[in-house]
Amino acid sequence: MSEPESIPVESLTPRKAKLEHKALAAEIAAADRAYFQDDQPILDDASYDARRRRLVALEEAFPELKGAEALSDKVGAKPSSKFAKIRHRVPMLSLANAFSDEDVAEFVGRVHSFLGRKEVGGIAFTAEPKIDGLSLSLRYEKGALVHAATRGDGEEGEDVTLNARTISEIPHVLSGDDVPEVAEIRGEVYLGHADFAGINERQREKGLPEFANPRNAAAGSLRQLDVSITAARPLRFFAYAWGEMPVLPADTQFGVVEAFKHWGFRTNALMKRCESVEELLERYRLIEAQRATLGYDIDGVVYKVDDLALQTRLGFVARAPRWAIAHKFPAELATTVLEAIEIQVGRTGALSPVAKLRPVTVGGVVVSNATLHNEDYIRGFDSKGLPIRDGSDIRIGDTVTVKRAGDVIPRVQSVDLTKRPADSQAYAFPTLCPACGSHATREINPRTGKEDAVRRCTGGLICPAQAVERLKHFVSRDALDIDGLGDKQIEFFHADPDLPVKEPADIFTLAQRDAANFKKLKDKEGFGAQSVAKLFAAIDERRSPPLNRFIFGLGIRHIGETTARLLARHYGSFDALRSAGIAAADVSSHERQELDAIDGIGPTVVEALMEFFAEAHNQELLERLLAQVSPQPLEAVASVSPVAGKIVVFTGALEQMTRDEAKAMAERLGAKVAGSVSSKTDLLVAGPGAGSKLKDATKHGVQVIDEAGWFTLVGR
Ligand code: IVH
Repeated sequence: MSEPESIPVESLTPRKAKLEHKALAAEIAAADRAYFQDDQPILDDASYDARRRRLVALEEAFPELKGAEALSDKVGAKPSSKFAKIRHRVPMLSLANAFSDEDVAEFVGRVHSFLGRKEVGGIAFTAEPKIDGLSLSLRYEKGALVHAATRGDGEEGEDVTLNARTISEIPHVLSGDDVPEVAEIRGEVYLGHADFAGINERQREKGLPEFANPRNAAAGSLRQLDVSITAARPLRFFAYAWGEMPVLPADTQFGVVEAFKHWGFRTNALMKRCESVEELLERYRLIEAQRATLGYDIDGVVYKVDDLALQTRLGFVARAPRWAIAHKFPAELATTVLEAIEIQVGRTGALSPVAKLRPVTVGGVVVSNATLHNEDYIRGFDSKGLPIRDGSDIRIGDTVTVKRAGDVIPRVQSVDLTKRPADSQAYAFPTLCPACGSHATREINPRTGKEDAVRRCTGGLICPAQAVERLKHFVSRDALDIDGLGDKQIEFFHADPDLPVKEPADIFTLAQRDAANFKKLKDKEGFGAQSVAKLFAAIDERRSPPLNRFIFGLGIRHIGETTARLLARHYGSFDALRSAGIAAADVSSHERQELDAIDGIGPTVVEALMEFFAEAHNQELLERLLAQVSPQPLEAVASVSPVAGKIVVFTGALEQMTRDEAKAMAERLGAKVAGSVSSKTDLLVAGPGAGSKLKDATKHGVQVIDEAGWFTLVGR
């Protein structure tokens, strides 16, 4: 969509104003629906805001327009906030991706080596289509459907039980006499191509916006507070996985899914058991060849270890199982024109170039923005400084190929030099931050001595873009997850003179400050008494955030979700992390050694942590924030596991598990696994052939046990 009209509103005739108002209102309504209901934004934030500002300006100049649509008073409400939440007893995980045959071979190799197999072979896998819909978990007790939940953040989803009951392919009661007491069946809700086309046709007839693709249409149809809307949409369901199910009907993946069929579910007929990488790839090619004629969208093939005992041994890394992978279909390409390059400033000050494209459909989705990665990428070099695209740069006005792979952000892939306008010029990447005007520089990586690929604003706290992005991150779904406080609201409060939010602590004083203010939030555009009350309640609900989410929310560089979880587990409380972070500035301190020894925490993270705690303004910011919130320690693995918090070393030959497996098991139980024995080691697990580590253990008086002793200790 183009930028809104730039003729000053004062010079418009009432008729012109009315026409423009109507068009804008429709555009905004469509964007609201796409953003809030369909989870598929069709406008970027800046274009959306420009439209809202123009709408308000029109209504101010022509008050009669206000009654007509009264759209400027409305902020879309996320339907999700109105669904009750259901905590998944077994988390709903995602899958790691494979993009090539080599990736698949590596995955199969990893599975074998993790399980201690010297040679590849002998482990069977299933291969099945990866359905492009949304996952749903159905809980049956004594064979009756008791609730249905969406994936949500994997830990907690939305209660869509009433909606799920309207789907004919979801049985209300399971059939068969082998149905377990408790069975959580998981699978994918999706729409067939023909049904999708029908739904869009009806949307068109009613003058409503169409869905971009079947997946969005399925999501929008399931997450409806008005169940009759769901019932009118022919949603379908394939069962392919499970959550809590204490008694399983089989000991293989294939067998359990077979049982699902007998209980009344539809399962995918293309699922096959394969014995080798070659067989998996053969299945992949066959499914890919049938893709166009299946009648529903798939975006790859999922491989899973068939033997459930092996699945259990393999376990999980972060949010994905080690025993499964999604082999994605190749990305889709389209050609369009690069109209402009916009520089966005991120939370850490990174300047990211975004391609503004003439809208083009790539794989069923209209794309108008794509990433250009960084300055070097635009100039024609990869991260190692080697030429890409035969060294050609990317210029405004170029005809470019855009690549989109699944959920990945589309990117500008290549340039058609034969179509380059004669007067085009090389793009000059800004050296000043577009948000605050500070210098933007490329740091030298101390380890490699090379220039960082990313240019960063040096403005720090004075840069409004960074401040806003940090706040957005703090309240985002994987951090504090405050309902009703999304990107738009953060931008609003950051700029609001009456109720400014400049740092995280300010969020928690909103209600108190609003009460003291003369001008109330409920009277402001986009808010009402009810929505304000809800917002304040949602904020209050997050005054005791889980420690790992709190750490992640601080947005410390290099500390993602997994690292935040590790730190939360290790330190238990925020105070412990903070004092360690401060004391660790002294390289020879015991705190520094402890930090260095945490498995999974590398020097980059250690450095980033110390940098964060060394800044006086961060300390002050934390002081103010901690006066408002009390992070809750991670649900302690510690209290249940005898090795939680202990430093364990494995040495010698292990017989019942591989070294990787031992390490993963110890970590799951909250222990830290170290590579060498010191006075800080709590336990040495020594198998036959143990050498110097055993000696070190004796020297330091460390407890030594064998593999059997380990299993007795951890109760397996
Ligand atoms: S198995 C523990 N099988 O893909 C692994 N997932 O990227 C559970 N999906 O959230 C997932 N088809 O929504 C599995 N045949 C299939 C699938 C499938 C689609 C989706 C599912 C999941 C996502 C992970």
